[in-house]
Amino acid sequence: MEKIFDRLPEALLPWYQQNKRDLPWRADREPYHIWLSEIMLQQTRVEAVKGYYCRFLDALPNIETLAQADDGLLHKLWEGLGYYSRVRNLKRAAQVIMERHGGRFPEEYAQVLALPGIGEYTAGAICSIAFHQGTPAVDGNVMRVVSRLTENATPIDDPSFKKRIRLALEKVYPAEAGAFTQALMELGATICGPNWKPKCEECPCQSFCGGAIHGTAERFPVKKPKISRRIEERTVFILYCEGKYALRKRPDTGLLAGLWQFPDVVGWLEPEAALEEVGRLSLRPKELRRQVHRKHVFTHIQWQLRGYYIEVAEPVGEFRWFTAEEINNEAALPTAYRQFWEEIEDV
Ligand code: ADE
Ligand code: SF4
Repeated sequence: MEKIFDRLPEALLPWYQQNKRDLPWRADREPYHIWLSEIMLQQTRVEAVKGYYCRFLDALPNIETLAQADDGLLHKLWEGLGYYSRVRNLKRAAQVIMERHGGRFPEEYAQVLALPGIGEYTAGAICSIAFHQGTPAVDGNVMRVVSRLTENATPIDDPSFKKRIRLALEKVYPAEAGAFTQALMELGATICGPNWKPKCEECPCQSFCGGAIHGTAERFPVKKPKISRRIEERTVFILYCEGKYALRKRPDTGLLAGLWQFPDVVGWLEPEAALEEVGRLSLRPKELRRQVHRKHVFTHIQWQLRGYYIEVAEPVGEFRWFTAEEINNEAALPTAYRQFWEEIEDV
């Protein structure tokens, strides 16, 4: 296995120089640019990100302007990308950089990792691409490539697998760290992709890739066998009035005991029935602003959730009405419900 990692830099670097796609965030190594692109690329395809990336930088050309950006403008620049917590964290991190790092993006891995919205993958990508550090950025693409190269049958969602790949890559990182990070990503995106037969005949690693040599590439990555889960449909109400949001506390026993939640009912209600249900909660609905579908996976149950964002006339009924600040700081909203809160700015 080590032998295979040893050969990656010499194979990937020249290939990357020849074959890299011309993408807007590859024009320079400015940490702000690398950071923004990696955050946008986390849940969004390269083709879709290009335009958003350029518009964002036209409007907010540096960290200082981002730290002071109007929330409405940020929302507009992010509209359509989804997962708005990403852009909220960008602004918060920019403020941290202004306050604690004198406006300069920190170079030390631990300090980068400490910024809001930045995890190990993103910190590794920024430190290697912007600062030439040998910090691997291991995402699903890299795990797929490595599992094929080494014919490693560890389930791809086993957290120890990611860690072992990171440690193995750290040992072989070349001085051209940024190019190496991006070469691995590029291979996973263009040659050794997720939903099609890997193009081993075009791959710079074919001479030492176990998957190519033994014809096993398509058996990797291995996924954990699926647990069968009962599916439960629910309708979640995000009810708000004058800057406050209705929550109720869950029972002290059972699933998610004692935590706060948005009110919900079992079953999927159509919009009209949802508004009637709000009436039954002794509230007067004013407007249904938006609906979203989300799911949440527990060990033995999967919730299919239909969320309705509804403005109501008065903050009454059997709820506690929380301000946004209280929800962020006080209410322990479990992820199943918090995901609707993350999208609240889209309303
Ligand atoms: N996916 C994640 N990071 C990327 C990058 N820097 N270039 C292309 N695709 C990516
Ligand atoms: Fe993937 Fe094939 Fe390249 Fe191996 S040789 S890394 S399986 S594309």
